Amino acid sequence: MKISIVGAGYVGLVAAACLARLGNKITLVDIDKERLKQVSQGVSPIHEPELAEILGQVDIETTSDYQRLVDSEVIFICVGTPSNDNGSMSLEHIVEASRRISEVLKVKRDYCVIAVKSTVVPGTTENAVIPILEASGKKAGDDFGVCMDPEFLREGKAVYYYMNPARIIIGELDPRSGHTLANLYKDFKAPVMRTSIKTAEMIKLASNSFLAAKISLINEIGNICKALDIDIYEVAKGLGYDERIGSKFLNSGIGFGGSCLPKDLKALIARSRQVGYKPKILEHVLKLNDKQALRMVELLRRHISLKGATIGILGLAFKPGTDDVRESRAISIAEVLLKEGAIVKAYDPVATQSFATLFPEIEYTTPEEVLKCDAVLIVTEWEEFEHLDYRGKIVIDGRRILKAKEARIYEGVCW
Ligand code: UGA
Repeated sequence: MKISIVGAGYVGLVAAACLARLGNKITLVDIDKERLKQVSQGVSPIHEPELAEILGQVDIETTSDYQRLVDSEVIFICVGTPSNDNGSMSLEHIVEASRRISEVLKVKRDYCVIAVKSTVVPGTTENAVIPILEASGKKAGDDFGVCMDPEFLREGKAVYYYMNPARIIIGELDPRSGHTLANLYKDFKAPVMRTSIKTAEMIKLASNSFLAAKISLINEIGNICKALDIDIYEVAKGLGYDERIGSKFLNSGIGFGGSCLPKDLKALIARSRQVGYKPKILEHVLKLNDKQALRMVELLRRHISLKGATIGILGLAFKPGTDDVRESRAISIAEVLLKEGAIVKAYDPVATQSFATLFPEIEYTTPEEVLKCDAVLIVTEWEEFEHLDYRGKIVIDGRRILKAKEARIYEGVCW
């Protein structure tokens, strides 16, 4: 199929690469010309396993000119929906993309489906996107189709999860729109659920809220376990045998970061409040998550006075396998350490550059140098941290690195 993808962020890039590999003709649109240049040279602008390899093999047309979308059969909107200050989602990029696509629709002769892949709050596609598209003079459902097709990939294994989704959710304006997308995904081995547009929007937000709640719940139980001297990881193992609970996403520690879980939770809370419902559980999930990272610093204070001490941070990415530091737990931890007068040294295998733009005052160095600090905090569970020498050190572990237990003083955040 002839497919256009608007937005060369995580979702857009991965979708473009995977759909191209499946034999579709892809046009990738973005305003960031540097990013597009990298893609056209077969270079991945982000650190994501398998992505660079695929980009090196496939042929993707890259452009900043929306008129190149004119012969598309499907146009995916994959632009970012960052948080506003009040937690609601900013629709700035969605609105702009819709407006530009609307210009294309004006001159487009054949039917095509516009599919929103960006995460949006329920009602956005119908109340914001469709009216802008219809400003073209064309009618949604007659002249063009509309779907909401949420993406569930996970960073660090994005290609794998794109190609092997747990489910494909197609929110459709009408059967013809849904049928076009279902046809595109016909070779994926995953259950396909066709539903209304706003239900699809809600499934995405509910999914991330549920995952966030699962993490905060296991962290809360972990905090209680630590006080009672019980191993939370053994407790989680016992819980996981129950199929209703499941064994995944029960790793307690310093909580969730990233560009999705915190943002989507905030957006659902804000939307819920707008419609007059105060979502107390979701609000608590977020509050507990914010506090959880700082528990590391509280534990550290029991062993060392922060002022003037050198404190090492191992891991800056919000999780292993990525160079993404958005909402990384390392951010709030570094802020407190620096504010309290500590000298901070840090190491991450891939995320140092992004972190250095936020914290130029930190010294970025090797893991060995970090381990020479007065105390060390483990913030991301990179596999290589299982091979360091922690003997004689003070280590506060936020992510359960078993080897670190050999330290002279070792404290897990929930264990
Ligand atoms: C998340 C969802 O898992 C995806 O399903 C979703 O598609 C994606 O957001 C999105 O909306 O685009 P992602 O942000 O890539 O994916 O990362 P996760 O693997 O979910 O991890 C999020 C955070 O939770 C990380 O900071 C991780 O360290 C933390 N986490 C995860 C835990 O603290 N404990 C766990 O057991 C699992």
